[in-house]
Amino acid sequence: MKIGKIKGFRDHYPEDMEIRNSIFNRMTSTAENFGYKRIDFPSLELLDMYRLKSGSELVNQTFSFTDRGGRDVTLIPEATPSTVRLLTSRKDLPRPIRWYSFPKVWRYEEPQEGRFREHYQFNSDLFGIDSQEADAEVVGLASKILDTLGLSGVYEININDRSVMEYILKDLDVSDINTAFSIIDKYRKIDKNSFFKLFKEIDVGEKSIDKITYLLSEKINIKNLEKKLRKTLNNYDGIEDRINRIKRTFEIINYYTDSNINYDFSVVRGLSYYTGIVFEAFDIQGELRAILGGGRYNNLSTLFSDEEIPAVGFAIGDAVIELLLKRNNLWLNNSLKTSYYICSTTNNYDYPVKIANDIRNKNKIALVDITNRKLSAQVKSASLYNYAIVIGDNEIKDNSITIKNMNNSEQKTIKYVQFMDSL
Ligand code: HAM
Repeated sequence: MKIGKIKGFRDHYPEDMEIRNSIFNRMTSTAENFGYKRIDFPSLELLDMYRLKSGSELVNQTFSFTDRGGRDVTLIPEATPSTVRLLTSRKDLPRPIRWYSFPKVWRYEEPQEGRFREHYQFNSDLFGIDSQEADAEVVGLASKILDTLGLSGVYEININDRSVMEYILKDLDVSDINTAFSIIDKYRKIDKNSFFKLFKEIDVGEKSIDKITYLLSEKINIKNLEKKLRKTLNNYDGIEDRINRIKRTFEIINYYTDSNINYDFSVVRGLSYYTGIVFEAFDIQGELRAILGGGRYNNLSTLFSDEEIPAVGFAIGDAVIELLLKRNNLWLNNSLKTSYYICSTTNNYDYPVKIANDIRNKNKIALVDITNRKLSAQVKSASLYNYAIVIGDNEIKDNSITIKNMNNSEQKTIKYVQFMDSL
């Protein structure tokens, strides 16, 4: 029997990892420019962390098992509960707190375009403030990261608010709010009849279902939010303050990005812990799964402590980002360093090793060919690098190097000091 790879898992070869690293670095350095600091946590956590607040959909997708000590544990399916666990065990940290992380996470989903059973997930979260400024900063950071990757104009962000949705549902006499959220979450994935039927099953009247469908039917400009709600709700006044906060949030987001930001009642998010703003980014053509998702979750901290700590954040998976960057010819290594491949025609490696170390000290790439092969074979290997440096008896004697530009084959012999000065 030949042993293969597990379904839904990916391997990454060096040519892929180089680009991946350069893209991941741009994401993390954007978060750092916003003052976010990196954290990390274990890949294995107690299953209860997700049972109570993330919701059954996610728990059903976990790679979980009972460990040798009889504990129900799981490979982490998301980073948010671990992040909050770290937060609640450090009461000494001055707030607000801005953290990011970049773990691998695991979900037993059906593998498809942009979805795997293991993916890298970039997370950013802001703790300690419940305000429109905090909400806008986090959405702003999400869009800034996509813009930094060159994706301006390629994506849009759709925003809703869970507390607004809860108000609407109650106003329309829906009593089973949690089930209603899970039906709304399916709105764009199922046909109209099934959607209608699911709401009927939780005793929602036809008039109310019509109104819900009317709200969900299209993404709208924030300018039309109030008008649309006044038209739909029996009592608008009770939600007025919240709507004003959302309008202000949209205004502030405009300072961060020129991208399309829509109000979209159909965004409620699959995870149960969200309490306020919720948002997702999609490619503008609507062909791919969500690029990122997030929102405000003010009471997840009560899983670990008595204190409710305001929190808002988001996560970007690497899979849809990769598809989108490839489609737009942006899957590139933008942090290429000049590289030198040092060939030697003598058995004396003292000089080549010294040159390589001097080049590395200038933060450039250097390799020494240590094969003792014919020079032509060594120079062939050098074709993967920017320059070949050839060292023979003459170069050792004269303290010089022969350097060949592998792009245009230009070759010259120069003094070593002169070469080092040019780096
Ligand atoms: P989520 O929407 O479940 O949110 O996942 C966030 C992103 O992770 C998705 O938009 C998608 O890009 C990526 N993703 C999710 N599942 C897969 C998969 N099977 N394969 C590839 N990519 C995937 C969360 O996980 C929240 N914890 C985000 C958050 C942070 N909320 C607040 N802070």
